[in-house]
Amino acid sequence: MTLPVLLDVDTGVDDALAILFAVAHPDIELLGITCVAGNTSLENVVANTLRVLDVADAPSVPVAGGAVRPLIEPARASHVHGSDGLGEVSRDPDFARPQSGRRADPRHAVDLIRDILLTATTPVTIVALAPQTNLALLLRQHPELAPRIERILFMGGSAGVGNATPVAEFNVWHDPEAAAIVLDSGVPTFMYGLDVFNQVTVDQADADALLHAPRASARLAGSLLQFPMGDDPDAPDGSSDRPLTTNGAPYTGHIGDAGALCALVDPGALRIERRPVRVELAGFARGQTIVDRRQRVGEDAIHPAGASAGAAGPAAVGEGSAGTLPGPALVDVALDVDRARYARLFLDTIARLP
Ligand code: BDR
Ligand code: CA
Repeated sequence: MTLPVLLDVDTGVDDALAILFAVAHPDIELLGITCVAGNTSLENVVANTLRVLDVADAPSVPVAGGAVRPLIEPARASHVHGSDGLGEVSRDPDFARPQSGRRADPRHAVDLIRDILLTATTPVTIVALAPQTNLALLLRQHPELAPRIERILFMGGSAGVGNATPVAEFNVWHDPEAAAIVLDSGVPTFMYGLDVFNQVTVDQADADALLHAPRASARLAGSLLQFPMGDDPDAPDGSSDRPLTTNGAPYTGHIGDAGALCALVDPGALRIERRPVRVELAGFARGQTIVDRRQRVGEDAIHPAGASAGAAGPAAVGEGSAGTLPGPALVDVALDVDRARYARLFLDTIARLP
């Protein structure tokens, strides 16, 4: 049985790898793709998404543009993905080939998601690979649709180190209010954060083989993998003796957002814990996902802010304290991954593309 899936993207080098994966994987029924400003402008995200689908010879799938900026912050494109959002891959002859008649859907992303949820016969899984602005708008505008969402599996956040700031991951940092709205919406959520995102890499020999493959879709995957994304997991001190890419940076071979789709079809390769998670909205740690990994009740539960001492009694970790704000959402957090298994899954899936 296939899983009905909606992708929300900011294509994006690794979003492109994820789209190729979603098109190719037999267990995924891709119902639509919604776009949001993040790695690059909304205009670039929509154009990149359509072109990736073209190169993959994907069947017709609706692609709609959504939010041009976060709920509160201005749009802040990532420096990681180059001026076109695709690490300049758009200059690649395969990618620059004449486009098909594929066009963006005229509906706003929020309307496209609404229509898909209303017509789907079973609840739909949303895989969010970008700032969650479109999803927050949807859940605010149409809270009655929440039960039609099976769950939201998002690439974002971290239980440890950040990338946009020392503690905040880019997608959550870009629109922290949106991420907080999604976490608190009551829809089940699954966090594929930097703890696992940074680990999954493809060997350079495999990426090189893709670069020289006869199929344009494989060559595109090969060029995207050459682009240095994320931290080099083998160089914790920032140095690396890995080979250099054409950009002069060490080759990392990150599959990035495509790992979130691996999590969807093969969760068994992950160590997952259900944990309370809050998004920090203020100060230096703005955009941090605070994952409560404590094994026992803390002082904060015994002496909750705003309650008179001893009035509420101890609350279990993750429960709201009586008379105060509701407790943080419980999120399935991926904390570790069998890297080799996902690298293989990625390569085997890409090999299915025409
Ligand atoms: C996330 O931010 C973007 O740069 C990537 O596409 C990924 O979704 C990683 O922090
Ligand atoms: Ca992304």
